[in-house]
Amino acid sequence: MKNKCILVGVTGGIAAYKIASLVSGLKKAGNEVHVLMTKEAEQFITPLTFQTLSAQRVITDMFAVDFQPDVHHVSLAKKADVFVIAPATANIIAKVANGIADDMLTTTFLAAECPKLIVPAMNTHMLNNPVTQDNIEKCRRYGMYILDSSAGYLACGDTGKGRMPEPAEIQDVIAMIAESDRWLNGKKVLVTAGPTREEIDPVRYITNHSSGKMGYELAKAARNLGADVTLVSGQCSLPVPAGVEFVSVVSAADMAEAVLSRQEKEDVIIMAAAVADYTPLEKAEQKIKKKDDDLNIPLQRTRDILKSLGANKKEGQVLIGFAMETENLLANAREKLLAKNTDYIIANSIADAGAGFGVDTNIVTILSPEGEEALGLLSKEETAEEILNYCLKR
Ligand code: CTP
Repeated sequence: MKNKCILVGVTGGIAAYKIASLVSGLKKAGNEVHVLMTKEAEQFITPLTFQTLSAQRVITDMFAVDFQPDVHHVSLAKKADVFVIAPATANIIAKVANGIADDMLTTTFLAAECPKLIVPAMNTHMLNNPVTQDNIEKCRRYGMYILDSSAGYLACGDTGKGRMPEPAEIQDVIAMIAESDRWLNGKKVLVTAGPTREEIDPVRYITNHSSGKMGYELAKAARNLGADVTLVSGQCSLPVPAGVEFVSVVSAADMAEAVLSRQEKEDVIIMAAAVADYTPLEKAEQKIKKKDDDLNIPLQRTRDILKSLGANKKEGQVLIGFAMETENLLANAREKLLAKNTDYIIANSIADAGAGFGVDTNIVTILSPEGEEALGLLSKEETAEEILNYCLKR
């Protein structure tokens, strides 16, 4: 890795002294390195050390009088390819997990849109505290990378987890992040997920077993590749992925409105939702009381969203649908590919163990007018990545 702009945030932990060799290593490799320090970090190592190693002014004070526009927090944030905080104390992790920006380091961090890496280093008990663990998890959910601390002898005398990994290892991880391929950068991807609910009366509705997992994994995978993602979701119990525009819908009609009104501006639309094909002709205003006779509920067809998208497909737009079948998987899926004018259909047999509703794995075959590709048993996360690779890379 060279010619990258790396921001290194140093906070007040004893491991701060080791960051001198990280900064030196990054600079020697041919990168532009800017160090930002908290007040507490200055108690452990001086700005002069970093200034000498990085050949850049070290940023400490938000209100410095010798202000230089090119090291302003917004311009630095814009330039950065990777922002790493190492060592990251429990305090800084709590701050960045909650958007607190009260010094130059945290302000620049909040303004930066580049990939971010947190390297926790602290006493084992502070690290194991559920509050710290929750904050680390929150950072992860916001899309930050976390480099796990290693176990060993700690400066406070304790032995356990909390030791900062060696600078060479941190440098390798920074390089991996800086060079990761965000090949969907600037593309707009809309994903639908989960079941729809069709109301019968104020108490009852018709729905299906979809958990939304596959669609949520597709949304996260597209986000990780740099896409600008909109997730249109039926009612699911999954956490909303960070960094995506989230649109919550209930019925097939709501989903149709949310998707079709956005079709024009999307580059890719992936219909992973299990959309109801029928809805009650009328929703009863009051709860339907039981009688001795059987009950028939007249149903009417819903709009086929994917088919409408296929009929209005704009130049260059990629449409991906799913086909969930219990029999004649490939024949039924191929029929849907043609009937709905889609570029790809992801065929999904719920008859296979490890595939379909609720589980974390899937077995799918990708069909296109040119042929088909079977993916084996994979986690839904891996399946999502493979689908994006196969359908969008070309
Ligand atoms: N789909 C849709 N609108 C509907 C029904 C389905 O957009 N009203 C989409 C699904 O999101 C999926 C694809 O069409 O991407 C195929 O859905 P599936 O339920 O497998 O097939 P159907 O077209 O509904 O046909 P059938 O139920 O007869 O298998």
